[in-house]
Amino acid sequence: MQRTLEPEIMDKEENVSAYAKADFSSVNQKFVDDLIKNYPNLKNVLDLGCGPADIPIRLAQSLPKVHITAIDASKKMIESAKQAVTKARSNNQIILMQAYLPGLPFKSKIFDGIISNSILHHLPNPNVLWEEIKRLGESGAAVFIMDLLRPNSPEKAKEIVELYSKNEHPVLKEDFYNSLLAAFTLDEVKEQLKKADLSKLNAEAISDRHWLVSGIL
Ligand SMILES: C[S@@+](CC[C@H](N)C(=O)[O-])C[C@H]1O[C@@H](n2cnc3c(N)ncnc32)[C@H](O)[C@@H]1O
Repeated sequence: MQRTLEPEIMDKEENVSAYAKADFSSVNQKFVDDLIKNYPNLKNVLDLGCGPADIPIRLAQSLPKVHITAIDASKKMIESAKQAVTKARSNNQIILMQAYLPGLPFKSKIFDGIISNSILHHLPNPNVLWEEIKRLGESGAAVFIMDLLRPNSPEKAKEIVELYSKNEHPVLKEDFYNSLLAAFTLDEVKEQLKKADLSKLNAEAISDRHWLVSGIL
């Protein structure tokens, strides 16, 4: 099945609201737990496409000394993230910024960790993500990037949606389906890493619907 793009920036109220209300707790907490298990000494982390900031909040709560810069191109997502960060009392650890990738307004090589969940499938040109990671991560920085795996067929995508989000809001289910169709296969991700001269990073399938790229720059 070929990749079908979905809208890049999530800036419609109903999509942002459905996404912010959805329960991603187990997947997001596992992402944070695995990150910390592998890279326990992170100090200055960048989260690309942070959405409603559930992952940065969990990371801040798990590592009280970490500082996180979390960016998203969507004004509405950043507004939602600001409310969540304030509610979690994590303002002292998390800076939120509306910013578009590529061309993020940061000096080169300043972060010791770059994380992201579910941004790659939004990008028309996936190379943009890997090039920005190379530019912004200091030498030795930890990279921890997760996204969806594109299934073989629309039928398989529908099956995955029903299996994991049966009782979620219809808008969220439709977004999930479209995201699966816009996602990359593991082979495509490996090819992107090769092209970006990042083959030293490890790319693996970590569930029936997710891949993870991790390693050190
Ligand atoms: C599916 S959400 C993932 C949110 C969050 N990382 C999470 O795990 O819940 C993807 C986010 O990436 C943002 N995004 C897409 N393209 C972007 C770009 N080029 N620059 C910055 N943010 C982008 C979207 O606006 C959206 O909020």
